[in-house]
Amino acid sequence: MPQAPRRIGVLTGGGDCPGLNAVIRAVTKSAIFDHGIEVFGIADGFLGLIEDRVRHLSADNVSNILTLGGTILGSSNRADPQRFAIGYDADGSPQFKDVTDDCMKTLRKYEIDTLAVIGGDGTMSGARNFVERGVNCIGLPKTIDNDLEGTDITFGFLTAVQIATDALDRLHTTASSHGRVMVVELMGRNAGWITLHAGVASGADVLLIPEIPYDLGSVRDFIKDRVARGKRCSIVCVSEGARAKGGKQVVARLDPTSPDPVRLGGIGAQLAGEIERVTNIETRATVLGHVVRGGTPVSADRVLGTQFGHHAVRLIAEGKRNRLVVMKDNRLTDVDITVAANTQRLVPADHHLIAAAKAVGTCFGD
Ligand code: F6P
Repeated sequence: MPQAPRRIGVLTGGGDCPGLNAVIRAVTKSAIFDHGIEVFGIADGFLGLIEDRVRHLSADNVSNILTLGGTILGSSNRADPQRFAIGYDADGSPQFKDVTDDCMKTLRKYEIDTLAVIGGDGTMSGARNFVERGVNCIGLPKTIDNDLEGTDITFGFLTAVQIATDALDRLHTTASSHGRVMVVELMGRNAGWITLHAGVASGADVLLIPEIPYDLGSVRDFIKDRVARGKRCSIVCVSEGARAKGGKQVVARLDPTSPDPVRLGGIGAQLAGEIERVTNIETRATVLGHVVRGGTPVSADRVLGTQFGHHAVRLIAEGKRNRLVVMKDNRLTDVDITVAANTQRLVPADHHLIAAAKAVGTCFGD
């Protein structure tokens, strides 16, 4: 007979996204109402375990948060307990220390034996550390990037796509008024899922994603051909991680204290300059940036988050260990949590949506 957990600790790690609060609410209420299990909220991801910032969560504490963006627990993408930055050397490089023992002490203090770990690939690899120490970790797949291995969809993604689609629709009308090329840079790290979906949804003309390095000449010819066919404007949607054939990704900043130090950004402005130069058409760049991560989740993310949270607690109550809740072929199920650690699910070059987009005349710059 599997042992019922004493207490669940819930944390949100990595970059935030819409839908996190829907998951926190579902985990907490399902645990309390369905199984009588107590829940503790850990502040700022693994940082709260390192610094002993843990609070009891009642059903009331998670009431009225379903529609709220962000996370009531806070998040951090700098707090890997195995490699935690504790200061800087004289030359400015960070000093790291393994502070997992501090986290274990905090877990013992609150008698937490199960962690509901809400995060992306970085958070799931952080969870592996605790799995190795005997803590049961149940993962819930979060990220706007939709790049988590093991699941077809992460919550937060559909909201990001909707926000990007709305922005692209708006840029379309102003681009048309002025006869311009509009370049729109979208987040997504090394995966082009947001660009692909928002681009198709808004009928963008050119989609440049990290998985398909582009040729500037192809983009130029495509835009010039549109002009020749009487089209007044062109919308170019580019992923922050996209790069030209033989070129490199554009890096906005490096954060050596973060488990993933690279922050991409800047390709939009660079590409807009190049397009204007080679086409002689007035071109503007817009960077949506963190806008796609903020605000109210769309209904699909609220539903997904509630399903994920409920399934996670069911696994915990059944005594299942170290699983990641996933959606596979439209079925709610679970896989080993380590499947999602430190790996990224990219858009396959033969993805059906790329084929559909090409069929309706979209250029991928290849
Ligand atoms: O993983 C989510 C994400 O928003 C990426 O799309 C983006 O590259 C990165 O996080 C930005 O990170 P930060 O919030 O640290 O700027």
